[in-house]
Amino acid sequence: MLHRTDLDLPFIRRQYPKNHWDWAFFENAGGAFVPHCVIQRISAYMTQTQVQPGYPYPESIDAADRMNLGHKLMAEFVGADIDEITVSASTSFNVYVLAQALRHLWKKDDEIIVATLNHEANSGPWRRLEEFGLKIVEWPIESDTAELNLNTLHELLTEKTQLVAFPHVSNVAGNVNDVAAITKLAHSVGALVCVDGVAYAPHRALRVKEWDVDFYLFSFYKVFGPHMGCLYGRRDILQKAKGQYHYFFDEDDLLHKMNPAGPNHESIASLAGIADYFDTLYTHHFDKDEASFFARSQALYAKFAEHEQLLSQKFLDFITSRKDIRLIGRHESDKNIRVPTFSFTSNTMSSEKIARAVCQDKVAISFGHFYAKRLVENLGVKDTKDGLVRCSMAHYNTIDEVEKLIRSLDRVLG
Ligand SMILES: Cc1ncc(COP(=O)(O)O)c(C=O)c1O
Repeated sequence: MLHRTDLDLPFIRRQYPKNHWDWAFFENAGGAFVPHCVIQRISAYMTQTQVQPGYPYPESIDAADRMNLGHKLMAEFVGADIDEITVSASTSFNVYVLAQALRHLWKKDDEIIVATLNHEANSGPWRRLEEFGLKIVEWPIESDTAELNLNTLHELLTEKTQLVAFPHVSNVAGNVNDVAAITKLAHSVGALVCVDGVAYAPHRALRVKEWDVDFYLFSFYKVFGPHMGCLYGRRDILQKAKGQYHYFFDEDDLLHKMNPAGPNHESIASLAGIADYFDTLYTHHFDKDEASFFARSQALYAKFAEHEQLLSQKFLDFITSRKDIRLIGRHESDKNIRVPTFSFTSNTMSSEKIARAVCQDKVAISFGHFYAKRLVENLGVKDTKDGLVRCSMAHYNTIDEVEKLIRSLDRVLG
C-alpha cells in the first residue's frame, strides 16, 4: 500500500511520455517535462477548435471557453484574480514589457535596486532604464552561499528607490530567499518589488498575496506546461502602468494591457492541463477533498518539497564530501532553505567536460552561466561560457536516479 507521506513515483512517471525515463534527467531548471494531459489539451485545441475565439459560432465559443479555463485556473494556482495575471510569451518578455510600462512613473535619478543574483530576465530590462535617467544600484552577493543579505539591502534603500528586482530562488544557487521579509523592507521606503519566481515555482507553492509582492513572474514550461510566461501584478499598480498593447485596449483593461505579444491560443488552452496534472496527483495522494485548486496545489507542493528534500540530502552528502568541488549556494537540504538545484565547479575539470562525460551513463546535466552571467562573473568564474555544472531535480526524479548521477560524477571526477 502507498505510504501516504510519500509520492508515488511510478504513478507520477506514468503521467509522462515513457521515453523520458531512459535517461536520468537533471536539467529541470532549464525546462521540465510535460505530462500527457497538457499535450492532450494542446492537441485537442488544435484539432477541435482551431479558429479565432470570441465570435458567435460554436467552435469559436468553444475555443474561447478553453482559453478562459486555462487562464482562470492559472490565476487560482497563483492565488490571484484573473485580471491580475498576464499570460504571455515568456518571463524575459514579461519583465521587459513591465519595465516599459512602469517607467513613466519615475523620474531622472530615481533608483532601481537589481540583485546580482538575478537571471538576466529580471536584470537587463531594468538596467535599460538607465537610458531614461534612472540609476541602477547593484545588490551584490557576498559569498559562495549566494544569499541575499537584508542588511545590505537596508543600506542600499533610499527615498529615491522605486523598485527592487530580485529572484525568489536563483536558477544557479537554489537558495529560497525570504520574499516576504525583502518585500516588507522595500515597502518601508515606498519601493515596489519585482520577484522572479521562475526557479521557485516548480518546487514550492505560490502565495503572492501572503507575500504582499507587487510583481511576481514565473514560466509555465518550468511548471510542466507549455513555453510561456506568467506575470502577476497588484491591481492598483497595474492600473497605473502604461498599456503596452494596441491603442484601442483601455488602460483599465488589465487582461490585455500588458501583453503586446497577444495570446498564444493553444498554449493558453493547454494551461488547464497543468491543473489536470496537479489534480490527478492530488486525488491519488490525498483522501481529503479540497474545494479550490489553490488549496489542492498547495497540499501537493508540500509533498513535492518533502521528496525533493530527500533527493537534495542524497546529492549534498556526496557533493559536499568532495574536496575538489566548489558548490554554490547553501549546503543544507532543508526544504525551507533550498530547492534541489545545484551548481558547482571542479578544481580539475572543465564544466563542459563533466557534463559531456556523464552522458556515457545516460545522465543529463548542463553547464554554462544559465543566463545568470553577471552572477557567474561575480563568483569569480573566469570562463563564463564554460561556467558551472548544474544538476537540477524535480519531484518526478527518483532516489535511484540521484544515485546514478552520483556514481557517474564519481567515475568522471575520479
Ligand atoms: C530564474 C529564471 N528567471 C528567468 C528565466 C527566463 O524565463 P523565460 O525563458 O520564460 O524568459 C529563467 C529561464 O531559465 C530562469 O531560470
